[in-house]
Amino acid sequence: MSLARQTVSEFTPIPQMDLAAQYAAIGAEIREAVSGVLASQQFVLGKECAGLEQEIASFCGAAHGIGVASGTDALILALRASGVAAGDEVILPPFTFVATGSAVSALGATPVFADIDPDTFNLRADQVEKRITPRTRAIIVVHLYGLAADMDPMREVAKRHRLPIIEDNAQAIGATYKGQPTGALGDLACISFYPTKNLGAYGDAGMIVTNSAEFDTRLRTLRNHGQASRYNSAEPGWNSRLDEIQAAILRVKLRHLPEWERARRAHASQYSKLLGGVPSIQTPQIPAGQEHVFHQYTIRAQRRNELQKFLTERKIGNAVYYPVPLHLQGIYAKLGHKTGDFPESERAAAEVVSLPMFPELTSEQIQRVAEFIAEFYRN
Ligand SMILES: Cc1ncc(COP(=O)(O)O)c(C=O)c1O
Repeated sequence: MSLARQTVSEFTPIPQMDLAAQYAAIGAEIREAVSGVLASQQFVLGKECAGLEQEIASFCGAAHGIGVASGTDALILALRASGVAAGDEVILPPFTFVATGSAVSALGATPVFADIDPDTFNLRADQVEKRITPRTRAIIVVHLYGLAADMDPMREVAKRHRLPIIEDNAQAIGATYKGQPTGALGDLACISFYPTKNLGAYGDAGMIVTNSAEFDTRLRTLRNHGQASRYNSAEPGWNSRLDEIQAAILRVKLRHLPEWERARRAHASQYSKLLGGVPSIQTPQIPAGQEHVFHQYTIRAQRRNELQKFLTERKIGNAVYYPVPLHLQGIYAKLGHKTGDFPESERAAAEVVSLPMFPELTSEQIQRVAEFIAEFYRN
């Protein structure tokens, strides 16, 4: 039956993301791994976390991995290890999930926003440089949607001003920039294993990766109450650890990650081929020398809100990441920003929509999504 003649009740839903299909495929491996932890009765800072730390560090081309309780904690701890404290400034893009900014605020420091590149949605080095002051202590780049920020110019700016770069790598584990994986492109990188991420736990979990032995030692102390040795705290820290059950699950899933990310890339290229000719949208741009891992397949769309409604009525999952840039959210009202301060971030927030994307998505489903979008713009 043609799409045009289907009534709403007949539409077969296509979710924006679907974890059930993945669990159906790897459930037996996961249950075995969890059983192993239960049999060991060791739940915090055991061999699973240590094993995962090594495996993730090596996957990212970094020397050290430090498991923590979430991606947000990874950011807070990385900032703290970089010396960020109350009164300091940290530069970051406003077009990101709130955690990138709230991690800065959690330390009493001030987020200073710099605008993004309209093609990649990532922070621009020239914008960063304009915002540097004597109080700037770090730069956070976000590799949004699964694509690395343009790191060469960013590293030049950071070097010129002797600032550390923290990668918010919540969304881009496995992506590469000029042949190098995200995670070792700056001084410290923060990974989120939130369940819906490309590598997702079955609860909250996160990790910091770094090439610095000094940061490694400091972060192991900070995540464990500041204890340099048992029951001997050198400084205030946190209780932020990646537990053994999550680590065991993540080790199973890490074995599948390259194949899942290949599938995401194949889906993205099918979408882009099908949508390339639709005049009112812009498909994701991938700069030369980079590999995207499509945590999200995000298009820019004219009449975005109407398109969303049209897709939702036809049971096509879709989502806007993120509808309000940080500088216009209540959390940062005190910074006194107004509409127009970061025009590219604001335009992105008004135009983006993410389409269904998960490894198990089928070619027929992608075709159906693309046909609906083409149909919307014919009217
Ligand atoms: C860009 C970005 N930064 C930070 C985070 C925070 O990670 P978590 O939810 O694991 O705390 C997320 C994910 O939620 C994110 O997408």
